[in-house]
Amino acid sequence: MATRITKAVIPAAGLGTRFLPATKAMPKEMLPVVDKPAIQYVVEEAVAAGLTDVLLVTGRNKTALENHFDRATELEANLNLKGDTDRLQKVEYSNDLADMHYVRQGDPRGLGHAVLRARMHVGNQPFAVLLGDDLIDARDVLLSRMIDEQEARGATIIALMEVDPAVAHMYGVATVETTDEDDVVKVLDLVEKPAPGTAPSNYAIIGRYVLQPDVFDVLEETEPGKGNEIQLTDALRNMAQNDIAGGVYGVVFKGRRYDTGDRLDYIKAIVQLAVEREDLGPELRPWLKEFSDNLK
Ligand code: UTP
Repeated sequence: MATRITKAVIPAAGLGTRFLPATKAMPKEMLPVVDKPAIQYVVEEAVAAGLTDVLLVTGRNKTALENHFDRATELEANLNLKGDTDRLQKVEYSNDLADMHYVRQGDPRGLGHAVLRARMHVGNQPFAVLLGDDLIDARDVLLSRMIDEQEARGATIIALMEVDPAVAHMYGVATVETTDEDDVVKVLDLVEKPAPGTAPSNYAIIGRYVLQPDVFDVLEETEPGKGNEIQLTDALRNMAQNDIAGGVYGVVFKGRRYDTGDRLDYIKAIVQLAVEREDLGPELRPWLKEFSDNLK
């Protein structure tokens, strides 16, 4: 029987240009979603799925990311002195959340290039890739379901979500056929950000992958594609079309996903998450209602 995967790779070396100037001196993965940086939600999700070995692929401005998962001795001492155990616990929580590792990408030459930088750390085992742009609600299961399928099928597994056809051109889109399982499809082809109106389906790729290590060899051979970047989707397309290392399957996610990659969706994500919080929701909900009633 295959051993269960243990390693998660989180690419966080993009330039985050849609969030400038906020991301001028800070990676977009450090943007707060309510009161936690996006990256912490993603690391918590990996850990909850049993992936305690986490590699962050970092770019310029990596210090904030590294510091977030390290001791903050001065702050901890100060909170300790004040007896503020609640906040102290919040600060300390991320220190030992996972076994954190870091590798630099150098030039941000695309998501595929960022994943390739994980090769030395990952070795010859399947591994997960999680993108900080997509937050999956902790109450809904996705990653562990994908890991189960990876083990059972010995294939590469991607996460898919049915989206409105009007927005399909903003995603990587899959051509699929059904399998013996309701929430699993076989991926026959993939296209990264198809021209509007040309998407082959409304199955969009969202930012969770469980990859066979063979993806590294494929990425080495993958030429820059859309945006002159080495696209992970192009490598996966090759693996799907040629059935490399078991081919590619998709787990179709129907749960709650928050897109924090662009400004409008980021604002919506914060509101959605905050109204459900016990500490913020009771005051925020009536305020929000009154605010929206008064909107012209
Ligand atoms: P995006 O394309 O959404 O990130 O990549 P970006 O390029 O930083 O964003 P914009 O469009 O300029 O605002 C998806 C994920 O892949 C990472 C990003 O950090 C993000 O988590 N990425 C992207 C890298 O690590 N390296 C790259 O070269 C490109």
